[in-house]
Amino acid sequence: MNAVIDLDWVRRQFPAFSQPINDGHSFFENAGGSFACHQTIDALNRYYTETKVQPYAGFNSSKRAGEDMDRSRARWAEALGVASPEIVFGPSTSMNTFVLADAFGQILGPDDEIIVTNQDHEANTGAVRRMASRLGLTVREWCMDPETGLLDIDEFEALITPQTRLVTVPHASNIVGQENDVARITKLAHAVDARVIVDGVSFAPHTIPDVAALDADVYLFSLYKTYSVHQGLMVVRNGLLDELPNQAHFFSAGSPDKRLNPAGPDHAQVAACGAVLDYVRDFHCAHGGATTDSLRTACAQASALWRAHEDALSIQLLNELSRSQAVQVIGPASLDAATGHRCPTIAFTTITQEPSVVAQKLVEQGVQTSSGHYYAVRVLNGIGIDPERGVVRLSFVHYTSQGDIDRALTALAQVLG
Ligand SMILES: Cc1ncc(COP(=O)(O)O)c(C=O)c1O
Repeated sequence: MNAVIDLDWVRRQFPAFSQPINDGHSFFENAGGSFACHQTIDALNRYYTETKVQPYAGFNSSKRAGEDMDRSRARWAEALGVASPEIVFGPSTSMNTFVLADAFGQILGPDDEIIVTNQDHEANTGAVRRMASRLGLTVREWCMDPETGLLDIDEFEALITPQTRLVTVPHASNIVGQENDVARITKLAHAVDARVIVDGVSFAPHTIPDVAALDADVYLFSLYKTYSVHQGLMVVRNGLLDELPNQAHFFSAGSPDKRLNPAGPDHAQVAACGAVLDYVRDFHCAHGGATTDSLRTACAQASALWRAHEDALSIQLLNELSRSQAVQVIGPASLDAATGHRCPTIAFTTITQEPSVVAQKLVEQGVQTSSGHYYAVRVLNGIGIDPERGVVRLSFVHYTSQGDIDRALTALAQVLG
């Protein structure tokens, strides 16, 4: 494999970079939703052009529509290291967690306990908390350190009891940028037979996870933030899919792909969502990987290159923000000493200027960003920031260039003084 990313090749795969509307701008709102690669756009276009019919009937276009949907499922299973029936597509991660919480509510009893965090996006905590409150379950909150925003795994261990049945955690926070040790969390939870739901939405765009190795019972992420279509992908493992009651039509109980998606599948998006893995495979081959390598290998090796590229850019932004008296970085202000890594979702508070004013001034300098609470209201409350005032967030991914970072550094210097 090549040692570094061929960024010209990468950016050629994303049509957004050649659109006049984006000329002179650098995109730093990737945690809100990434650009789509051409492989995704082509697949969606092909579905709507050639096979926009009810799938799984005997005529050609319908057969192919169904085959493309099945292929997406099979390919994502291979990429994530799990079995095809464990892949569930739904309208979004928020909808998937909503359905999941209701399903858990049907199997949990009054003596059961749940552990949630205050580092989660609301999607991975709100529905479960509501379900627990309806049933009168004990909810234990694993709280971030109010100074650093970090979760300490020793505190998690202290919250686990023999009654713990369910744990919800973020793999990476969409504000703090901390990556949590999911493998260790699941091991601790599984020791008392608790199930673990992991929100990988802010993690997967940077590293396509080996879900089997993490051993999470449920792993969720949003494909529209991962260069693909607006769907939520949820992996449900370790027999949990059969254990949770069917949430779809009664006659769908025997269909693993339908049990937890009462909305019904968006055929075109399901069919198109595997195409981002063509991008990953193309990336792998364009960087010296073998065409015969498995999709899991291609994902792992591509992700390693993505991470190294992102870390080299992150440190520059973190250094600039740390130097400034006008802002305070939330979460780690440097790369982790042991791993040399930090998730490139970098949020900061502004001391004198309003975050919305800073964000708008950055936009005027060509830095496409925003401000707000990003649905992480509990996170901001937990570290003493008024969610109404919010934070500014600069989030980027592997297609971000040194030129983008230079633009952001210049703009930050001008705006923050
Ligand atoms: C970390 C995180 N989790 C969950 C979600 C919810 O995802 P969706 O928009 O697919 O419901 C988001 C969306 O921004 C997010 O950033």
